[in-house]
Amino acid sequence: MKKQKIIAIVGSIRQNSLNLQLAKEAGRLIGEQADFELLEFTDVPFFNQDIEYPAPDSVTRVRNKVKEADAIWFFCPEYNHSFPGVLKNLIDWLSRPISENEPQVLKGKPAAVSGISLGMSGGVVAQDSLVSLISMLNMKIMNQPRLSIPNAWQQTDTDGKLILTDSLSHLEKQVKAFLCFIV
Ligand code: FNR
Repeated sequence: MKKQKIIAIVGSIRQNSLNLQLAKEAGRLIGEQADFELLEFTDVPFFNQDIEYPAPDSVTRVRNKVKEADAIWFFCPEYNHSFPGVLKNLIDWLSRPISENEPQVLKGKPAAVSGISLGMSGGVVAQDSLVSLISMLNMKIMNQPRLSIPNAWQQTDTDGKLILTDSLSHLEKQVKAFLCFIV
């Protein structure tokens, strides 16, 4: 059977992002069970209809990555009870048809959503907004299980390194469920 390809989209572009570390941990747990790649999108410009066609090279590159993937896994921080603007900007680009004959690339793609935040809610409010957006774009969302890890400081060391304790088993469950969901 062909190995499934999962693209991870992390909604934080900071170097020591907890969500990036969570994504890497998911990738480690997936191991050889699927291909797992972090989407690099810091070079994608602000969306602007004036530069939409022809698409900038960076946009073509991320679109191709998403198009070729079997599934997308979002790792979503919470900013002010919503998801970060960098993620909305990327999704706005991905939501647009490539051309008159080629639809947008998110349609029908299986998606998982996870996140870790400093607050008590674990970023679930941001996740709900994200789910609402990607469901509008006809992604095929795995609604259960989702993973929202609150109080991140309880599972990080003094350097901000993520050391999953209580949440590790939940991430393991989500990995297992998503691998089943996407076959
Ligand atoms: C936050 N943070 C935050 N946390 C939370 O639980 N709920 C919230 O609404 C917010 N709002 C918020 C706004 C802004 C502008 C920032 C910069 C931060 C804290 C947030 O959870 C924390 O900074 C995380 O570490 C961000 O994720 P990454 O970058 O570590 O992946």
